[in-house]
Amino acid sequence: MPWRAWWTASPGRGRLYGMANDFFDKVYRTTEPDAVETLYDDWAGSYDADVTGNGYKTPGRVAAALAAQLPERGTPILDFACGTGLSGAALAAQGFAVIDGCDLSAPMLETARARGIYRHLVKLAPDEAPAAAPGDYGAIAAVGALSPGAAPAHYLDILLDRLVPGGLLALSYNDHTLADPAYTDRLARALETGTVVERVREHGDHLVELGATSTVYILEKQAG
Ligand SMILES: C[S@@+](CC[C@H](N)C(=O)[O-])C[C@H]1O[C@@H](n2cnc3c(N)ncnc32)[C@H](O)[C@@H]1O
Repeated sequence: MPWRAWWTASPGRGRLYGMANDFFDKVYRTTEPDAVETLYDDWAGSYDADVTGNGYKTPGRVAAALAAQLPERGTPILDFACGTGLSGAALAAQGFAVIDGCDLSAPMLETARARGIYRHLVKLAPDEAPAAAPGDYGAIAAVGALSPGAAPAHYLDILLDRLVPGGLLALSYNDHTLADPAYTDRLARALETGTVVERVREHGDHLVELGATSTVYILEKQAG
C-alpha cells in the first residue's frame, strides 16, 4: 500500500504524537532544498525520539552490511547526510573508527557533534556537494539520505564520483525512493554502465511501527 494511503488508513497512526505526526506527514512531500533544510532544522529537537520510537532499523542494517564487506575498521568513512548521527552511531557500533559527517541542517549537526563519534562534521549549503576528493574515503554511507524529503537523485553520481575503484557506497532507499524513477533510474544506470557492481542488496524494515521498509545496497565502484 502506498505510504500516504497506509497513513490515512492505519490504526497505528494513533501511536504517533504531536509534532512527530506533522514531520512524518510532511517530510516525503518536501523536495525544495531550502524547504528540506528548514524542515530538518525544525525537526532536530525531536528527530531521534521520533524515529527511534518508531523502530528505526535502517542505520543498523546499513552498518552491519558494510561491516561484513569491509573488514578494515580504520577505513575513513563519510556519513553523507548524517543528520543527528544515528547513522554514524551505527557505524561506530560496528567498530568503524574514522567517521566524518556532513549535512544540510546545522541543528541536526549539533546533535551529531554531541555524540563525540565524528572526526569532522561539515555543514553543507543547499545544493552543495561534499568537498571530498576521490579516494579521501574508502566508503561513503548514505542512510536515509537520498530520498524525496532529503537529497535529490543526482547525489548518487556525486557520491560515486568521490570514490576510487574498490571504494564502497553503503546506501539505503526507502519506500518513497524505491517508488521514484528519478532515484531508481540513476541506480539502474550506474549498474548497467558498470560504474558500480552490487555486492549487497537486502530489503527489510525501515520504520517498523509505520510499516515502512527500505532496501540496503553495498555498491563497489569500478575502474573506468
Ligand atoms: C532522514 S534524515 C537521515 C539522517 C541520518 N543519516 C539517519 O540515518 O538518521 C535525512 C538527512 O538528510 C539531510 N539532507 C537533506 N538534503 C541534503 C543535502 N542536499 N545535502 C546534505 N544533507 C541533506 C537532512 O538535513 C537530514 O539530516
